[in-house]
Amino acid sequence: MTKKITFLGIETSCDETAAAVIRENDNGTADILSNIVSSQIDKHKKFGGVVPELAARAHLENIEYVIDTAIKESKISIKDTDGVAATAGPGLVVCLTVGLNIGKSIAAFSNKPFIGVNHLEGHALSPGLEKKIEFPYLLLLISGGHTQYLIVKDVNKYEQLGTTIDDALGEAFDKTAKMLDLGYPGGPNVEKFSNLGDKNFFKLPEPIINKAGCNLSFAGLKTAVLRESKKISGEKKLRYNLAASFQNTINKILYKKTKVAAEMFREKIKKNKFQLIVAGGVAANKTIRSNLSALSNEMGFETIYPDLKFCGDNAAMIAWAGIQRFKKNMIDDVNISAKSRWPLDKNAPYMKGPGLKL
Ligand code: KG4
Ligand code: ZN
Repeated sequence: MTKKITFLGIETSCDETAAAVIRENDNGTADILSNIVSSQIDKHKKFGGVVPELAARAHLENIEYVIDTAIKESKISIKDTDGVAATAGPGLVVCLTVGLNIGKSIAAFSNKPFIGVNHLEGHALSPGLEKKIEFPYLLLLISGGHTQYLIVKDVNKYEQLGTTIDDALGEAFDKTAKMLDLGYPGGPNVEKFSNLGDKNFFKLPEPIINKAGCNLSFAGLKTAVLRESKKISGEKKLRYNLAASFQNTINKILYKKTKVAAEMFREKIKKNKFQLIVAGGVAANKTIRSNLSALSNEMGFETIYPDLKFCGDNAAMIAWAGIQRFKKNMIDDVNISAKSRWPLDKNAPYMKGPGLKL
């Protein structure tokens, strides 16, 4: 029997302070020895979004307690782990630095290897916590800061097929919630209040739907929501109709663009049967899940979603990515520093700003 690798993971890239202890098991998936997430939702609620300085201070206040609890709950001690992994980017540098520094210190004091994890790789590999995943697979990463289609060829080997050219999908949900006064956090509230509205009431634009491959754009949709929201002067039923119409439009966009991405994947990988993994905070949305499952039935591929507790930011996925990198000997130097931008595919074209040709 080979030794099962165990890692402490730490995550502080945005507004969740998180720590987890994860061990590989015989099924090739993970035993979650502990998974602690301290959310800062209440701190940012009155501002309607994450305030970096407040987030960094809250990480500093909570991090020791969160790590301590994760270790206690795991019932093992740090000396029984094989290493420490902490998110090194992308994200808010003031926030990342908190988890990264404490992770490096724990590793140094306990004489363990340290791994600085790309948060996006954490999301990308997260379904492996619960299910044995086979490379290569198609990834739709939908979070508060990123929206991308990627071919995941292996750990650390990514090819970007498409990305948003403006807002991230989670950002579009959050802004819509703000415009319609549905409360914070935006995404879950848009989903909740959409259930009370008529999704066909408003006709909203589907930007670049028939061009630019599987690249996406949400800015025009957001502007249309703003315009309509001004006309309905806060009337409750109309706000719910607008939220539902926004979510419905997102689903139409994702259906079409995922179809294009699946065709591109088939063309490049020459594999008819494959897995689509939908990861990141927005993957918690139930209508998006059923919409993409309908597409996968139509096209004959399998769709996999992480459990809800692994969709939003968490440290289990960071420890898991750490274990995968450790097994490939990708150990980092303790001088590794926090990065605000860190694309998974470093050869992918930068798809934002003036001069962009579609
Ligand atoms: O992955 P995540 O926790 O943090 C980032 O890495 O950005 O994603 C957070 C995003 C937020 O924009 C949040 O509103 C969105 O995920 N989100 C949702 C839902 N739950 C979270 N969006 C739509 N529907 C949901 N149920
Ligand atoms: Zn995330």
